Amino acid sequence: MEPVASVNRREFLAAGLGTGLLINWECQVTAQEKSADLDPKNLTKGNVPTPALLLDLDLFESNVKAMAEHCQRAGVGFRPHAKTHKCPDIAKRQMAAGAQGISVATVPEAEAMVWAGIPGVLLTSPIVEPAKIARMISLVQRGQRVMLSVGHAREVELLAEAAATANVAVDLLVDVDIGDRRTGILPGQPAVELAQFIEKHKRLRVRGVQSYAGHASHVVGFEAREKVSREAMGKSVETREMLNKAGFDAGILSGGSTGTYNIDSTIRGVTELQVGSYVFMDIDYRRIGGKSSGENYTDFQHSLTVLATVVNATHSDRVSVDAGTKAIDTTTTYKPEPKGWSNLSYNRGGDEFGILTAEPGSKLPQIGDRLEFIVPHCDPTTYLYDRIYAMRGERVEAIWPIAARREETKRSAG
Ligand SMILES: Cc1ncc(COP(=O)(O)O)c(C=O)c1O
Repeated sequence: MEPVASVNRREFLAAGLGTGLLINWECQVTAQEKSADLDPKNLTKGNVPTPALLLDLDLFESNVKAMAEHCQRAGVGFRPHAKTHKCPDIAKRQMAAGAQGISVATVPEAEAMVWAGIPGVLLTSPIVEPAKIARMISLVQRGQRVMLSVGHAREVELLAEAAATANVAVDLLVDVDIGDRRTGILPGQPAVELAQFIEKHKRLRVRGVQSYAGHASHVVGFEAREKVSREAMGKSVETREMLNKAGFDAGILSGGSTGTYNIDSTIRGVTELQVGSYVFMDIDYRRIGGKSSGENYTDFQHSLTVLATVVNATHSDRVSVDAGTKAIDTTTTYKPEPKGWSNLSYNRGGDEFGILTAEPGSKLPQIGDRLEFIVPHCDPTTYLYDRIYAMRGERVEAIWPIAARREETKRSAG
């Protein structure tokens, strides 16, 4: 038989070949296409298949450096949150800048990071499914300094059982709910009691507390944000002091966000920041205003964009790009912004398309033009992609897998 990829799909079906072989045909074509698509040396901003997730390496590196330098100056550690990028290649660069570990929100993220050899992985979300707990216990055995956070006695019981079965010691942070009302135990005495319950179990050890003040991170205006964050983190600081007075070795207080990094780093008792979005930045964060930069938060740069192509220009008042809700998360109130086209406005055009309209009298892009969009919310946009194109100017320097996108984590080459 001829090599299957040399016949087209219709000829192949007309020849009456079986479904099993058809699957084979499709696999081979996909593999061929992939090898060309995925060779960075063939790729530039001009020919990357769109929609594509791009990372401007110069801006990304400056963000990584700025946060690391800030933490060093402030005398606080950082354990950046990989929920933003789900990408071990990015985590490794944060580690190289001085991070003491990487925070993760899901078990696949934890697996991707540990399998990539990253030490100090901290799971910040609760888990109560025995299968997930077993996967985390296996990471504790394989990885270096893997920790989990717990906010409920039921999690403790399940973890204690799994740790006893595997005969492994597990380090835990008490997740303290400081106003977010999503995860964690209440601060003060309830948190101390949970810690006491943890240490009743031979293989579990309390290492400190973690707190995420999600209600503080995006408060508009630095002073207002500072007030909310100080009040929230104060509860966590106090809880950690109570734990230490009660005889625990609560060395860690992990918390904070990109919006509050320069607030939380000045609070005595906070030992490390779980900053996530700073590596990419998004419109949602830009509008919160900075300490000294007025309305726009400019501490970090927009390194992440989605590249899209104009695929329709039938109408005089609009064009369509191939980036709809499957390519850019548009669940926040803010719209994607086309870089260098301040006269254009993006509107949702369904799953596959975005619609661009121009200010009266100004020009629309032409069919085939490529535009880069700054995204409203970086984490859920990244989640839509399998890979990120790491750009040096116009050139693709590397392609990094978003390794922890789905439940079945792919092993990262990195
Ligand atoms: C537990 C936890 N820590 C830290 C962060 C990081 O926040 P940001 O991306 O705003 O820096 C998040 C974000 O949602 C989070 O859920």
